[in-house]
Parts: sequence; C-alpha cells; structure tokens
Amino acid sequence: MKDKLAALARRHGTPLLIIDHDRIRRNYRTFTGCLPRVQAYYAVKANSNQGIIKTLFEQGASFDVASYNEFMQVYEYISHFEDKDKDFYIWDKIIFSNTIKDKETLSRIRRYKPLVTYDNEDEIRKIKDHCDTAGLVLRLKVPDIGSQVELSSKFGAEPGDATGLIEHAFDAGLTVEGLSFHVGSQCTNFDNYAVALEITSEVFHECRRRGRHLKIVDIGGGFPVPYDPQAPRFEKLAEVIDAECARLFPQDVDIIAEPGRFMVATAAVLVSEIVGRARRDGKMFYYINDGVYHTFSGVVYDHWIPNFQSDKDGPIEVCAVVGPTCDSFDKISLSEQLPGNLQIGDYLYTENIGAYSVVSSTRFNGFDGAKILHVNT
Ligand SMILES: Cc1ncc(COP(=O)(O)O)c(C=O)c1O
Repeated sequence: MKDKLAALARRHGTPLLIIDHDRIRRNYRTFTGCLPRVQAYYAVKANSNQGIIKTLFEQGASFDVASYNEFMQVYEYISHFEDKDKDFYIWDKIIFSNTIKDKETLSRIRRYKPLVTYDNEDEIRKIKDHCDTAGLVLRLKVPDIGSQVELSSKFGAEPGDATGLIEHAFDAGLTVEGLSFHVGSQCTNFDNYAVALEITSEVFHECRRRGRHLKIVDIGGGFPVPYDPQAPRFEKLAEVIDAECARLFPQDVDIIAEPGRFMVATAAVLVSEIVGRARRDGKMFYYINDGVYHTFSGVVYDHWIPNFQSDKDGPIEVCAVVGPTCDSFDKISLSEQLPGNLQIGDYLYTENIGAYSVVSSTRFNGFDGAKILHVNT
C-alpha cells in the first residue's frame, strides 16, 4: 500500500492528500445499510471538496449545509432540474443545520423554501422577517459527554424551553417540522445518543399531545470513526439507534441524520515529506511540508490526534513531527514512535485524515497546503 502511495507522491509531489471515492461510497452504504430508516444528509462542512459532494450526490445522499456557499455547492447538481423537481429536492434532501443564520443568508434562501434549524427566539423573528417560507426544526441541547468535539455549549435549546419555542414559532405564522440534536463529534459514548433520543421523544410526544404534528427527528452527526482499534464500532451504535428509534417514534416520523466525519475521514490519506531535521534536547524533530495551519488543522480545531507511519526501517524512538511555518505553535505531535534515522526527502503517511482537515487549512506563511488527488472516482 505504501509503495503505491509513494509512487503517487513522486508523480504528483507532496504534500499530497489522496481521496478514495470507493471508500466514500462504501462508508455511505455502510451508514444507510445499518440504519435503513434514517435518511443520511452528508454534513458538507466535514469536507466540502466538490468531488466528494458529486460522489455522494450520485449515491443519492441528502445534504446538511451550514452556509449559502455550501448550499450552492449542492445546488450545482440540481440547477438543471425542472422547478417542481428542484423544489422537491431542496425540501426533501437539504437542511440548513446552522441554528444561527444571518439576515442576508435567510433572504437569499427564501425562494428555495428551505428546511432550517433554530434554537432561540431571536432566530424565530429573523426567520419570520427574512425567510418565512422555511420549515423549522428545533435543535435541542443534549449531553455530549466524552465526545471529541463538544457542541452543546454553543447550540441547542434547553429541553424545558422546547415546547415554548415551538409554540412561539407557530404563533409567528411559521411551521415547525421537527426536532434535532447533535451529541458532539466523534461520539464514542453511545449513552449520549440514547439519552438524546429519550429527551427528543419526550418533547416530540408532548407536541403531538398539544396538536402539533411534528414529522421529523434529526439525530445529527457524531458517528464515530475507527481512528484507533479501541474505538467502538459504528455497527453497534447503529443497533442502539435503530432499536431506540423504533421504540420511541411512530413509523410516520422521518428520521434523518447529518453524518460528516463518518463519510469522509477514512477516505483520505496524506503523504507528507520530511524537509528538515534537528535534534533538540536529545529529541529528533522532523520538519515536514504540512502542519497545523494546513492539512493538520484538525489537531487544533477538531482536537484530533494524528498518526504517522514511515516506510523506512530503523530503531524506533519518540520523535516530534512539526510543520513548516515559522510559528513554534506549528507542532503536530511531540510523541510519535518513528525511526530516529529518517532523512530529508523521506515520506510520512497519515491515514484517516479526510474530515475537518483540508477544509480548515490556511495559506499561513505562504504555503499552499496539500494537493488533492482523487482516486476511484
Ligand atoms: C449541525 C451539525 N451537523 C452535523 C455535523 C457533522 O458532525 P460529524 O462530523 O460528527 O458527523 C456537525 C459538525 O460540527 C454539525 O455542527
């Protein structure tokens, strides 16, 4: 495998991010196969590369978009549809999952009658004023204990406020279609999902008792990726979700999800190159041509712990792997088990780097960042 990656790196240069579209298709099929009742809206924010959107569009995926620009990236594939089909597609297969949207965005998407999430009163007013064609989904605050990335400190209505916020939206002349939550990204604690579904079902049934016929339950993202062999398996989580949804929600409820990381993390590998080396206080520092301001930005924003492999043999020692910029913060890892005798020009390989990586890469210090190579398109 490394031979093939090295050959590609020699041909295309480094740093090289290789995205395998067979793997994306496989991840999509695994998700929909294990959760047959759940409609999968790919969270474009995880990796908004146009080629990935195209592959998932062709698979029949739906999409979770955070902004007008992400919406337009999906719209590209439906712009030629007849108006009726376009309207249906947008209604059925796109959700604006960002609970806070600026007025300009709302005004621009008004004509598309979008499905949008919200979690507070000011947002209701804004939606009423600028996008009254929207269907609303109330996002609930749920536990995100142990998740790699927590979201509940910034998003979600307190469950106790939920029915009030739903009535408020109806009073404003809007329609609330359903409820959503997000248990935090890379959620390895399955209880978070069980508790979130329980909280959601209480609000859901209370609304139905009040005559508010909610139709959608959106279970968000968070589905874990096997970054390390100890990570709990998605298939086991799917059994929990499937059983709990059957127990808690009638069959006429549409269950949807917003998987991001799950679709793309395992579909990319990065080949970087050692461009410098120095022994500092006895530790070998490898300087590579990619770093935390570039493809390894997930180390900062996604709390991600990267992995490095070499194709060279040599006595293993604890090494540091650091980025190419002049900032001393640009240290990717201080504790990699690597041969201590790697040379300038040698490659390092990082697997499972498809999510929350290139999307948040900058051009800091003038470095372009990784080239992207699509394979098995
Ligand atoms: C609203 C929303 N939906 C979906 C996702 C995707 O989550 P994940 O990549 O954990 O599946 C995120 C990630 O931040 C999010 O904020």
